[in-house]
Amino acid sequence: MSVRRLAEDHIQPQEFAFNADNKKWAKQTIAKYPKGRQQSAVIPLLMRAQEQDGWVTKAAIEHVADMLEMPYIRVLEVATFYTQFQLKPVGTKAHIQVCGTTPCMLRGSGDLIKVCKSKINEQPFETNEERTLSWEEVECLGACVNAPMVMVFKDTYEDLTPERFEEIIDEFEAGKDVRTGPQIDRQFAAPEGGHVTLTDVPARAQSARQPAKKADAKTSAPKPTAKEKAEEPGADVKKPSKTAKKAAAKADNEQMKEPLFEAPEGQKDDLKLISGVGPVLEGKLNDLGITTYAQVAKLTKKQIAEVDDRLSFKGRIERDDWKAQAKALAKGGAEEYRRVFGKDPR
Ligand code: FES
Repeated sequence: MSVRRLAEDHIQPQEFAFNADNKKWAKQTIAKYPKGRQQSAVIPLLMRAQEQDGWVTKAAIEHVADMLEMPYIRVLEVATFYTQFQLKPVGTKAHIQVCGTTPCMLRGSGDLIKVCKSKINEQPFETNEERTLSWEEVECLGACVNAPMVMVFKDTYEDLTPERFEEIIDEFEAGKDVRTGPQIDRQFAAPEGGHVTLTDVPARAQSARQPAKKADAKTSAPKPTAKEKAEEPGADVKKPSKTAKKAAAKADNEQMKEPLFEAPEGQKDDLKLISGVGPVLEGKLNDLGITTYAQVAKLTKKQIAEVDDRLSFKGRIERDDWKAQAKALAKGGAEEYRRVFGKDPR
């Protein structure tokens, strides 16, 4: 946790005032709280002050304290406690908060910090030369399941690799809209590649269509007798047993493990040199029969879709441009990779 102090006096502006819109908004916000509890508006007001000026100045803290009839020290305590408040000027296009707590640390936040140091500034809270970007390390931001992640203003960027993170920084610098949330094939915090439970779509769709009917049936309809149950249409159709279901799932799994390609003879290439491929993915690719750079370089669109499907990571092959990377590696190894991409293969 970083030490949080107000910025030096010489960069503190003398005064602060909300602009007309924010002043109106602040009055409405304070009015939401019961009489005598207006101080509860301290966090939203400080946040609005930060959004207006880019950081929380001493003058803004005092102004908010006056509005809420609070001692200055109480508002200062709030502003210095929460890391979402910036106490000195930060990058005008992005101030990046890198989560460095255990789950993110174990999943690579150290590499994200290295990217910040090389692309922005060696020191946290210092801007780049253009004053557009800055960074800091913070404690858990509550998206651990999609670690490693960063937060920029109010949005989070999750499931990051150093390569994708570099792109995100470039997109902020260029003023582009940056895709928020998970940066891989994952919806919110669902499993990568899609749901693995409750996948019985017809049953789910049916229950979604008939919620009221279901509730009524539960509360008012009498339970059928055993005789009535036996006479129901389809009662003699046997449901698949648990064992049969398990066997079917096992057969599906076995089928998914079957190779898609005939692995070429000879030595395997180190597919981990392709950015985006780690030891686990390399093993899975080998299981599919992909063992060389040349094979990756020649994948057709249809084959990419098949591999995507098998490995449940739709889009990653194209997003990380595995084909171009593999082509360079196949042509001249790490040297050619460096020539084409201007950096070492990892
Ligand atoms: S540990 Fe990084 S978001 Fe929780």
